[in-house]
Amino acid sequence: MYENDLVKAAFKVRSRVHAPYSKFSVCAALLAEAGNIFTGCNVENASFGLTICAERSAVAAAIAEGKKDFATIVVVSDSDASASPCGACRQVLAEFNPEIKIVASLISGDMQKFNLS
Ligand code: THU
Repeated sequence: MYENDLVKAAFKVRSRVHAPYSKFSVCAALLAEAGNIFTGCNVENASFGLTICAERSAVAAAIAEGKKDFATIVVVSDSDASASPCGACRQVLAEFNPEIKIVASLISGDMQKFNLS
């Protein structure tokens, strides 16, 4: 599975982001066992603390489908600077794979790669 496939998958949900408060669109694609890809996007709330980041949205989608063996997560943000997962998302990702590969990508295609650890 190439990272570009994950970027493409993440892009597909870009229009579904619910970010009326920050206007900052983030989407994610999570690669799980057997090549399964799960996508997510940020879901904001008037009570900002209830906002769900794209990463946690993708994790929840995967768990609901019975998959939890995560290898890579691609996070695509609609900005000049790439977003990397917040502390809460890192903690949630660490629950399943402390070594998960994180690819932070911009719309332009620029990517930064690192491991959660
Ligand atoms: N956001 C994400 O979804 N993922 C990140 O990695 C960084 C931040 C969202 C949360 C909120 O809706 C908006 O971006 C601004 O923080």
